[in-house]
Amino acid sequence: DAEGTPREYIAAIDQGTTSSRCIVFDRDGRVVSVDQKEHEQIFPKPGWVEHDAAEIWTNVQEVVAGALAKARIAKEQVKAIGITNQRETTLLWDRNTGEPVHNAIVWQDTRTDALCRELGRNVGQDRFRRDTGLPLASYFAGPKIRWLLDNVEGLKERAERGEIMFGTMDSWVIWNLTGGTDGGVHVTDVTNASRTLLMSLRSLQWDEKICASIGVPTSLLPEIRSSAEVFGTAKGGALDGVPVASALGDQQAALFGQTCFSVGEGKSTYGTGTFLLMNTGTRAINSYAGLVTTVGYRIGDQDPVYALEGSIAVTGALVQWMRDQMGLINSAAEIETLARSVEDNGGAYFVPAFSGLFAPYWRSDARGVITGLTRYVTKAHIARAVLEATAWQTREIVDAMKKDSGMELTTLKVDGGMTSNNLLMQNIADFLDAPVVRPMVSETTCLGAAYAAGLAVGFWNDVEDLRANWRRAAEWTPQMDAAERDRAYTYWLKAVQRTMGWLD
Ligand code: G3P
Repeated sequence: DAEGTPREYIAAIDQGTTSSRCIVFDRDGRVVSVDQKEHEQIFPKPGWVEHDAAEIWTNVQEVVAGALAKARIAKEQVKAIGITNQRETTLLWDRNTGEPVHNAIVWQDTRTDALCRELGRNVGQDRFRRDTGLPLASYFAGPKIRWLLDNVEGLKERAERGEIMFGTMDSWVIWNLTGGTDGGVHVTDVTNASRTLLMSLRSLQWDEKICASIGVPTSLLPEIRSSAEVFGTAKGGALDGVPVASALGDQQAALFGQTCFSVGEGKSTYGTGTFLLMNTGTRAINSYAGLVTTVGYRIGDQDPVYALEGSIAVTGALVQWMRDQMGLINSAAEIETLARSVEDNGGAYFVPAFSGLFAPYWRSDARGVITGLTRYVTKAHIARAVLEATAWQTREIVDAMKKDSGMELTTLKVDGGMTSNNLLMQNIADFLDAPVVRPMVSETTCLGAAYAAGLAVGFWNDVEDLRANWRRAAEWTPQMDAAERDRAYTYWLKAVQRTMGWLD
């Protein structure tokens, strides 16, 4: 930039499961500034997980202001805001007061398990998969809306009177950012809508029949827009007047941030859960191997790009559980030190089916198990089993991906907080028998939201500009003996079987 010309940036807001973040990026896709704040995880009953949406909105405003202040950036230098978010987490709020009617029900929450089984019996499991790309499971938003309508007193009547709005966290953030009760826009994007069980994957509109069968009035629902277009401008706050120009579910944003723009390119993001997505182009591929068909992204009025996804509910969340609930480690990083203090898992396998099992099983009734215990096993072996659980679950997803797409995975692009764990990354390369690579900018989720927003306002011209920014930072190559891998995988699969039918 010429002297005196202020530099220009894109700000991305990532409203995630455990924290909200704002990252400011420059034109080369480099991180200029970050601010982050955790919010409370509320566990009212076994299997239930909630968030306080008002706390989340306060945190979002704080991290936006924080990120700008840290790098002394003026709002005039920010050309657009991109939004990305934890998906499926469901909120209903009053359109006149802006007050949430209940805590948000988080994607990990299994309270709609019985409701999903009932819907499966009455409507049929395949009806949903064919039209929405999703299996009927407590993970998705639609049944959570129905639960709220059935269980919050007077809510159905308020909804009938048109007083209530539904949104996943993208909608909640955008509505508040663009003015809330003072003219806020009520929108969502195709990627987030594709996680509700309510949108037709082909028309990209709410499917009236499906909404009726789940018991969700369409009057609650936001307008479905593309992932990269100007939804409105921020009203008030640190970014007052800046266009809000993208929204993508966090996993789709990571796919975008990893520049997986060609068919067959994919990534795996290791956060609270782990989500492996592969670009399948403008064709939505039905899954027969237990994956999810989802919208990858849609740029403005271009054709939508679809993806196959393998979703794993609990990976980083298991490390947090070891720290917070079990007290076996003091920090998440300690899990690697503890695991490295022994040679192997001592025969122990840990299947963290805390939110049931997602892909490829879709069993909301599964619960966690540790198998193979003897007196020989120490907490260090358990730490090893904890890391291996993430790696084996990745292997199961990759196997399913091969079956559905017929494509071999040559390398796995990874990102997310857990990729700083070298032992885990080595385990993944070993269990997949394929190299694992991590890019220079590991903040791919925010980067993807920034890229989409930047494309929408012409900050970047096209996806080729973005591809040029991807650079490899680290690589792990497989070293494990094949026979040993096969033997261990058999034990893992046996352990998985032990989690099912637990609630019968
Ligand atoms: O589907 C849930 C996913 O979007 C949550 O991602 O990174 O917030 O755990 P994360």
